[in-house]
Amino acid sequence: MRVIIEEDYEAMSKKAALLVASQINLKPNAVLGLATGETPLGMYRQLIKMYRKGEIDFSEVITFNLDEYYRLPPDNSRSYHYYMQENFFNHINIHPGNTHLPDGMAADIDEECSRYEEMIRQNGGIDLQILGVGSNGHIGFNEPAERLNVTTHLVSLTEETIRANSRFFNSPDDVPRKAVSVGIATILKARRIILLASGRNKARAIKKTVNGYVDTKVPSSLLQTHPEVTLIIDQEAASLL
Ligand code: GLP
Repeated sequence: MRVIIEEDYEAMSKKAALLVASQINLKPNAVLGLATGETPLGMYRQLIKMYRKGEIDFSEVITFNLDEYYRLPPDNSRSYHYYMQENFFNHINIHPGNTHLPDGMAADIDEECSRYEEMIRQNGGIDLQILGVGSNGHIGFNEPAERLNVTTHLVSLTEETIRANSRFFNSPDDVPRKAVSVGIATILKARRIILLASGRNKARAIKKTVNGYVDTKVPSSLLQTHPEVTLIIDQEAASLL
């Protein structure tokens, strides 16, 4: 596991964008695994800037997002579908048909989970997976538990995650209690993984990700078993290392 400590959020975001850009320049039809939340917003802004300057071409890029809330329609401004359009896809030349998120509205969720997993497989798997991390160590929406789901699945969110994500909603009561998330093996099968973390409230999770035991109660610690993981974190997130 490689750990890159940057001065602040801006520097972290620039570094991450550069790594994504080099992946795309190396393989124009790269398959990217994308994350939502507050952390990758700066990286998306940098990638949009690079696109506008003609430094990246997304026309052949394929993306798969990690997760989506259960039963939150894509046109709801809190959905991850909406987030991706607003913060990234609407500003670059990606083909809409090449962008994928789990469908939390699907009538048959089990079937949707299998379909999503199969689609990733058919596209040759993820070349570069971008991850954020929850303050409890969740990645995607793989929450701390005795046992972790291997593939895409419906998950019940923990109280800690509901509280943390309530900042995007009017109140904690409005946060969906469930989400569809790729599984831990879906993530670990990616050829390369970049995990981003910023701020003091991530320091504990980062410490356990890097130095702790591999423990399903800290899902991010499983990244220690992957040969190509780079953590790009700011000084505050690195403060307990
Ligand atoms: C959310 C997402 C994760 C994200 C994490 C951290 O619940 N499902 O993919 O990495 O929580 O979010 P943030 O970057 O806003 O701290």
